[in-house]
Amino acid sequence: MDSFSTVIRTASHEQHVEAETSTFMSDLLGGRLGVEAYARYTEQLWFVYEALEAEAHRLASDPVAGPFVQPELMRLAALETDLAHLRGPDWRTTLTALPATRAYADRVAECAREWPTGYIAHHYTRYLGDLSGGQIIRDRAEKTWGFARKGDGVRFYVFEEIANPAAFKRGYRELLDRAGTAVDELERQRVVAECKRAFALNTDVFRALGEEFPLSA
Ligand code: HEM
Repeated sequence: MDSFSTVIRTASHEQHVEAETSTFMSDLLGGRLGVEAYARYTEQLWFVYEALEAEAHRLASDPVAGPFVQPELMRLAALETDLAHLRGPDWRTTLTALPATRAYADRVAECAREWPTGYIAHHYTRYLGDLSGGQIIRDRAEKTWGFARKGDGVRFYVFEEIANPAAFKRGYRELLDRAGTAVDELERQRVVAECKRAFALNTDVFRALGEEFPLSA
């Protein structure tokens, strides 16, 4: 029988491809968008990480979700540094969530409050992705808009306290496997479904951003 981490990875593979190849992501990675689009995307991430991290201290004592709450993953402070760089010191006054972002952040917050095991699906979808494809996005952002390597503007993608991302990801998959053994089959299936929902929520945000920043064809 496949490990839970493998089940999750396999189940979300198709949607990963969809997110990765979304028009907005392709345009962003292709260097076809201005820094304004990147800043707008970074703003959307702020809402998602605020939802992921605001309740983290409380979730830390949850028997299933607790082990996932790790200080070295926290991204909100890095996002705020990036936003100050991208938007200026008053970035908070102009920060707005797209409706798709609001829906995504609300669902994360709901899981954090009411369903810690479901929260894991959102945790996995973001942080493991940031540690993986996030590094490709950082590289592209540095080259396209001239941010200093691993500097302000792309700090969100820099995990200062994770020296070996490959080893960290292996450890993370073990945490997933352990969480999978702590719950029953029905709950495992619900988590897999939540993970798919998490990817879909990301794709919805990309779609909205794609509409806001269409390439003048
Ligand atoms: C253009 C954008 C993206 C690129 C180029 C990309 C690329 C990658 C790559 C190369 C990996 C494999 C890393 C490994 O095996 O260690 C990966 C894993 C992952 N990505 Fe992405 N990705 C992108 C977007 C996304 C998005 C939008 C999400 C979800 C929000 C996401 C979530 C994940 C997750 C959860 C994993 C871990 C899979 C696992 O091993 O269980 N990625 N990504």
